Amino acid sequence: MKEASQMSWEEFHALDPDRQAGLLLKDEHVFHVLYARQFRREQLETLGLLATRIRKIAKKAEGMRFLRDQLFHKRAMLYFTQPSTRTFLSFYSACQILGMSVGEVRDKSISSEFKGETPEDAVRSFSSYFDMIIMRSEIGGLAERMAWVFMNSERPVPVINAGSGKDQHPTQALLDIYTLQRSFEERGGIDGKTILFCGDLARGRTVRSLANLLTNYDGIRLVFSAPTALAIGNDILESLDQRKVPYEVSEDFERFIPEADAIYMTRIQDEWDSANGESKSIDTSIYTFEKRHLADLKPDAVIMHPLPRRHEIDHAVDADPRAVYWRQMRNGMWIRAALIATIFNCAGRINDYNR
Ligand code: NCD
Repeated sequence: MKEASQMSWEEFHALDPDRQAGLLLKDEHVFHVLYARQFRREQLETLGLLATRIRKIAKKAEGMRFLRDQLFHKRAMLYFTQPSTRTFLSFYSACQILGMSVGEVRDKSISSEFKGETPEDAVRSFSSYFDMIIMRSEIGGLAERMAWVFMNSERPVPVINAGSGKDQHPTQALLDIYTLQRSFEERGGIDGKTILFCGDLARGRTVRSLANLLTNYDGIRLVFSAPTALAIGNDILESLDQRKVPYEVSEDFERFIPEADAIYMTRIQDEWDSANGESKSIDTSIYTFEKRHLADLKPDAVIMHPLPRRHEIDHAVDADPRAVYWRQMRNGMWIRAALIATIFNCAGRINDYNR
C-alpha cells in the first residue's frame, strides 16, 4: 500500500475516508486528527477511559505533577485564525495539564500572511518551533492539507483540527461523545439512544462531526430538527444511510422532546451569511428549549450545547440537573488531554499510574 508521502495532494484528498484514516495513524495510534469519521468505537472507548483517568489523577497536586512530567519536553502551536476562546483555552489547558509549552498565532493581520504568504507556508514555517499543530481556520480542509504537507516533509508533526470551515470539528465531537458516555454510564451506554439535534444544522460543524461519530453505536436513532433552509446536509444523511442508522428530518422540534435521550441545541451560524444576511429572514423562534419543555423531557435525558449560546436555551433551564452543557465544556479539556497523550504515546504510562 502506498504511503501518503508517495501520493500527490489530489490523490490523498480523493482517498476513500476509511483508507485515508489508516494513513493518519502512527504505530497504530492516532497521530493526525482531521475529521470525526476517522475514529472507530474502540478508540472512542479507550479515549474516554483515558480522559477519566487523567481527570481523576489531576484531583491531587501529586497527580498533577505526574501529568505535567509527561510532555514537558513538547511544544504545541495553537494556530487559531478564526474566533475562539473556549476551544482555544480548552486546548491550552489540556496542553498545560500534560506540561507542554504553548505558542499561539491568533491574528493573521500581524503575521506574514498579511504580506501575501499562503496559510500553508505560514503554518509550515511556524511549525519549525513546535512539535504539534492545533489549528482552527475558516478555510475548510486546511487541516487536511497541512497534514499531507507534513507527511511529505522531513518533520512530520501531528496536526489537530480544532474546527475547519463549516465542515468539521472532530475534537468537539470527541468531547460530546465523552459527555454522552458519562451521562449514560449507568444506562447501558450510548447504544439504543435517541439524539435530537436542533438549530442551524446546515452550517453547524459540531453537529456534522457528532453525527459521524454516532454511527459507531448500535440501535441509535437521530432526529434533525431545523427550518428547511438550515436542514442537515445530504452528505451526512447519505453516510447515515450507508451505515444503516435510522434518522428523521423534521421542521418540528417540540414533538420530539419526549422521545429524546439527549437534545443537542445549536445557535444560528450567521457568520456564514452573505452580505444580504439571509438568516434574518428565517423564522427560528420555535427552535428554542424553554423552561416549560423540561416537563416533557425524560427524567434521565440530557440537554447539550457546544456553546456559545444565544437564546436557543432559556437561562432558566441551566439549574436543571439535565442541563449538562457546562460539564460538557470541562469534559473537552479532559478528552483533549487524553487525545494529546495518545498522539505522543504516553497513554500507557498514565494508565499505569499508581497501579
Ligand atoms: C462551535 C464552533 O466553533 O463550531 N463552538 C465551539 O467550538 N464550542 C459552535 C459554535 O460556534 O456555534
